[in-house]
Amino acid sequence: MSAPDRLPGWQALRDRQAELANVSILELFERDPQRVQRLTLRFDDLYADFSKHRIDDAAWRALHALADASSLRDRIDRMFAGERINVTEQRAVLHTALRNRSDRPVVCDDRDVMPAVRGELARMRQLTDAVRTGMWRGHTGKPIRSVVNLGIGGSDLGPHMVCEALRPYWPDDLTVHHVSNVDGAHLDATLQRIDAESTLFLIASKTFTTLETLTNARSARQWLTQRLGDDAAVARHFVAISTNAEAVAQFGIDPNNMLRFWDWVGGRYSLWSTIGLSVACAIGMDRFEEMLSGAHEIDEHFRSAPWSDNLPVTMALLGIWYANFWGAASHAVLPYDQRLQRLPAYLQQVDMESNGKGVDWSGRPITSYATGPIVWGEPGTNGQHAFFQLLHQGTRLIPADFIAVLEPDHGLAGHHDLLLANCLAQSEALARGKTLEQARAELIAQGLPPDRVEALAPHRVFAGSRPTTTLLLDRLTPRSLGRLIALYEHKVFVQGVIWQINSFDQWGVELGKQLAGNLTEELRSGARPDRHDPSTGALVEYLRSRRAAQPAP
Ligand code: F6P
Repeated sequence: MSAPDRLPGWQALRDRQAELANVSILELFERDPQRVQRLTLRFDDLYADFSKHRIDDAAWRALHALADASSLRDRIDRMFAGERINVTEQRAVLHTALRNRSDRPVVCDDRDVMPAVRGELARMRQLTDAVRTGMWRGHTGKPIRSVVNLGIGGSDLGPHMVCEALRPYWPDDLTVHHVSNVDGAHLDATLQRIDAESTLFLIASKTFTTLETLTNARSARQWLTQRLGDDAAVARHFVAISTNAEAVAQFGIDPNNMLRFWDWVGGRYSLWSTIGLSVACAIGMDRFEEMLSGAHEIDEHFRSAPWSDNLPVTMALLGIWYANFWGAASHAVLPYDQRLQRLPAYLQQVDMESNGKGVDWSGRPITSYATGPIVWGEPGTNGQHAFFQLLHQGTRLIPADFIAVLEPDHGLAGHHDLLLANCLAQSEALARGKTLEQARAELIAQGLPPDRVEALAPHRVFAGSRPTTTLLLDRLTPRSLGRLIALYEHKVFVQGVIWQINSFDQWGVELGKQLAGNLTEELRSGARPDRHDPSTGALVEYLRSRRAAQPAP
């Protein structure tokens, strides 16, 4: 296949961008009174407004042509069919099988994976039921009151984000913690808050070789056995979730206490697997399965809906439009919901580890078009008092997703209307802007003298036409959250297809890991730091000299 920028649609999109560069979003609304209706997609209670974008029908047609020319339909089918589309690791990509709620088999390497998937879901149910009902007892006979997930990246971000989002569903007598950082301060802070006798550690690691997770797991084991005075306590307080049974056994966790998943589940797509155990402990297995059902509904929609009605495809093509034709380098995710506070961090891995690639499928360097954007964000309204200034008046174009939930899970009067009003106000302000004339008129109305009006007015101008999507959910439930997450996963997939990159490997994380291994040795031993660039060598020397100068603890 030709490079994307040589495919049908690409040149048309360039031309379209040039045409639209001087057309405001307000003009687009004026040109088409039906714009909101035509560019709002509904999926059950999910309301997705794509009308505040700098795009017209001709550009949409060209984007759809680009999707066709990129064989998007075929690529989607190949993913769902279990082909080894992760070409560099020679693996299938089947997180969708984990949430396949239909009777359809999913065949990978000539075997239906569904019996194994269902089997592991059943084991998960058994375990979480035992924990939640108090049947699972710790070494000294106490029921479990704290679950601590030790994992990082995909073995932390998804479960952590979902647990926070669904906190209102937690039982009163169980608390779930997530510890990821190798910085001992992270684990230490959690250990201070829990009681060894009633704590269950979940060691979540696909490979079971990850430095951070294994370091935390060893420290947790030491803490526990010291507190309970018996190495045998590990059997009642440690569960492993991994694809690597051998490493789990080596660590000393009983195979009966191991939940499995498979190499065809990418780490950042593993929330739906047994890696979601902390979620299932927090909200119960029925609700965990509701989340799977929500995601499955989006899978079905993604596979079958025409491009113009297809939510993930629409989100993806808008991202392509801005990244490749408007020069947008980043994408903001702005949940106007405190429960979704960890959504941006979670999406950073899903998006940036997937599409932060500089070579195409066949290993050719990509030099003529941009790939994955920088994804970032914070919950509103906090962001408004931090970085929104730049969104409104900075020199960069930053497309943003505003996400809000109509019903709160708290009973505090007045808050939610304020929250929702701010959400709508911000996207309106970004689209509408404020002209120099309007700014002047406001200042004159405030009674300012003419020289102050002229001096201040330019600072109060908002260019407007800053593009946003608004996603509204009725309620934040396991099902609606499952849908939301699956939307973003498929968005990332579609963009990877258009950019012709492998969205499912992550070689870019390896070099730093290798170098950290060497550096740890150098910091611990007295070996000369002689294999580094001059800056790093000097930093090693400096750290060592400072440590040597410090009094022993
Ligand atoms: O370092 C990146 C990474 O490999 C991610 O892709 C993965 O989600 C994370 O580390 C954790 O890996 P594991 O689950 O094997 O511990």
